[in-house]
Amino acid sequence: MFARSAVVAFVALPLLAQTSFAQTCTRTYTVQDGDICDGISAAHNVSTYQLAVVNPSIDSECNNLQSGQSLCLGYEGEDCSTTHVVQLGDTCDDIAQTYGFNATILNNLNPQLDAQCDNLYVGEVVCVANNAAVPSPPAGSALPAATIPATAIPANPSATPAPTSAAAAAASSAASGDDDDDDSDLPYCDEL
Ligand SMILES: *[C@@H]1O[C@H](CO)[C@@H](O)[C@H](O)[C@H]1NC(C)=O
Ligand SMILES: *[C@@H]1O[C@H](CO)[C@@H](O)[C@H](O)[C@H]1NC(C)=O
Repeated sequence: MFARSAVVAFVALPLLAQTSFAQTCTRTYTVQDGDICDGISAAHNVSTYQLAVVNPSIDSECNNLQSGQSLCLGYEGEDCSTTHVVQLGDTCDDIAQTYGFNATILNNLNPQLDAQCDNLYVGEVVCVANNAAVPSPPAGSALPAATIPATAIPANPSATPAPTSAAAAAASSAASGDDDDDDSDLPYCDEL
């Protein structure tokens, strides 16, 4: 996690240096009754991460939105407005490939995604603008949007370490060494 944050800080620094340190909102949105964070994000092309970082008053499960509240959707110079709404079965590699880059770049744009990409969830909104500047994670606190909300579904249930029968079946099939495509794609899982 430290390494990933450091990369993001490195990428964002040149842009921060050019812009003023007072952060100006390029876009705002007034919360309506019934809004949820990822619904706002999807409708306005704001990543889940960006919405959380620029609105630190929103709680981690997005349960405290108030109708009439004004939200900042992006900071000047670090506003990613090209987004993808995660679908069931999406992987970080798939998403990155679709938009013409790789998972490393996707992680820079969406620093809350873990290295295995197993906290990606259905309905999450990810920034997919190659090399866009995005806001840095807040110093000294947890990465916003890094945990799958209690009501959300992982994009890749089999990638999540959970004691489900599907995961157990996948694990035992991997252990038995059959050579289906999924297993042979994993570089370090041979010869266990
Ligand atoms: C969001 O992005 C899509 C795809 O580029 C575009 O069609 C749509 O107009 C955008 N919506 C807003 C609110 O910017
Ligand atoms: C991802 O793409 C960037 C930019 O092209 C490149 O510098 C980086 O090495 C790539 N990362 C991987 C793991 O291929």
